[in-house]
Amino acid sequence: MEEECRPVLNTGLRGLVIADTRISDVQGAAGKLIYRGYLIQDLANTTSFEEVAYLLLFEKLPNAAELKGFKEQLTAERDIPPEVITALKTRPKDAVVMDILQAGVPLLAHHDPDVTDQSMEAAIRMATRLIAKFPTIIAAWDRIRNGKEPLKPSPNLDHAANFLYMLKGKEPDEEDGRFMDTCLVLHAEHSFNASTFAAREVASTRAHIYAAVAAAVGSLSGELHGGANMRVMEMLSEIGSVDKVEAYVNQQFDAGRKIFGLGHAVYDTDDPRAHILAPMSKRMGERVGDTRWYEMSQLLEKTGKAEFKKRKGKDIYVNVDFYSASLYYAMGIPIDLFTPVFAISRISGWTAHVIEEYFAGAAPKPMLYRPESEYIGDYCGPDVCEFEPLQERG
Ligand SMILES: CC(C)(COP(=O)(O)OP(=O)(O)OC[C@H]1O[C@@H](n2cnc3c(N)ncnc32)[C@H](O)[C@@H]1OP(=O)(O)O)[C@@H](O)C(=O)NCCC(=O)NCCS
Repeated sequence: MEEECRPVLNTGLRGLVIADTRISDVQGAAGKLIYRGYLIQDLANTTSFEEVAYLLLFEKLPNAAELKGFKEQLTAERDIPPEVITALKTRPKDAVVMDILQAGVPLLAHHDPDVTDQSMEAAIRMATRLIAKFPTIIAAWDRIRNGKEPLKPSPNLDHAANFLYMLKGKEPDEEDGRFMDTCLVLHAEHSFNASTFAAREVASTRAHIYAAVAAAVGSLSGELHGGANMRVMEMLSEIGSVDKVEAYVNQQFDAGRKIFGLGHAVYDTDDPRAHILAPMSKRMGERVGDTRWYEMSQLLEKTGKAEFKKRKGKDIYVNVDFYSASLYYAMGIPIDLFTPVFAISRISGWTAHVIEEYFAGAAPKPMLYRPESEYIGDYCGPDVCEFEPLQERG
């Protein structure tokens, strides 16, 4: 067999630049996250999710008239088809919520008149519909599984507040709505993370946007990615109280297990989003009269970092999922909706990336992603396996 010399990268593609993008920049060493040139801190403090979704899709922050028009489009697209509600009602009540969301994506595609239109205009319309409808699917499912009828979206509420309303059946107060909005801004985009890469890989085949988004939802569900926020809360619940944190950390490290919400594939310092979420978690805990989860998180961060340093001789930092867990819990969001809430936000980044993949990929033209692998299995004969008929196999 001819020897070929090819590099083998068993690295999870870490540090490998595989495409260019104008959507976001994650500067891991500096701890900076930038959406289309704007620092996440500025966006979190001053913009709404609708503005950020517009920024990601249309490459600029909207002016007042553009924002008004975009909000009206989103509001008009919030309803999901009755056939999708009927389909949701046939699902087992204990289904994994991310599976419900992932299954819901092609159901929406069946009802989208643009699904076979490959124009940029159609892609933007479909992206807008997906952003508008994700909260409705999640809220509808939560009500259905609890034996309640889904609520119609409220045209009077902004995106984040409307989600809380459809979920809880009560309009949120100003602070709850604002906190949810900030969470959506913070989670909207993060360059070539696993789920975005999944979306772009599917888009590179020229499959439609719903196919790409369904792949991304599946990727986000994993506990090393978006599923980590749920696992953080399960961990806090398992620990139970502040005085048990240190013993828990030691027990996890002794057993070679991970502390969820610590570590990141790109940041070499604290995730800048965690610094915004931590005081929000504290504040929300105070509002509901239970700061235990925040206090446990604080001590877990301190102890987890110190123990990691002691045992591995290097630093580890908190990521976005760490404080969002205690924050969502204080906001009364069911634990298994934490990752779906992440998806409600990240759909804006995914769709922006899919559109970039279709229309503005690597020069000279976008290419199908097609890496190779090094075969390390057996060859039974000199080159390939000599075929054995069934009756001759031992
Ligand atoms: C996010 C994550 C996958 C990044 O991975 P990474 O930087 O490539 O790090 P690795 O998984 O290769 O781990 C490197 C080392 O740090 C350890 N480590 C990484 N994250 C850890 C954590 N959260 N708790 C304890 N140890 C951890 C690993 O056990 C490994 O130790 P070893 O070298 O002795 O085998 C990883 O930090 C992780 O699994 N974190 C927990 C899940 C999580 O919060 N995910 C959300 C990410 S936003």
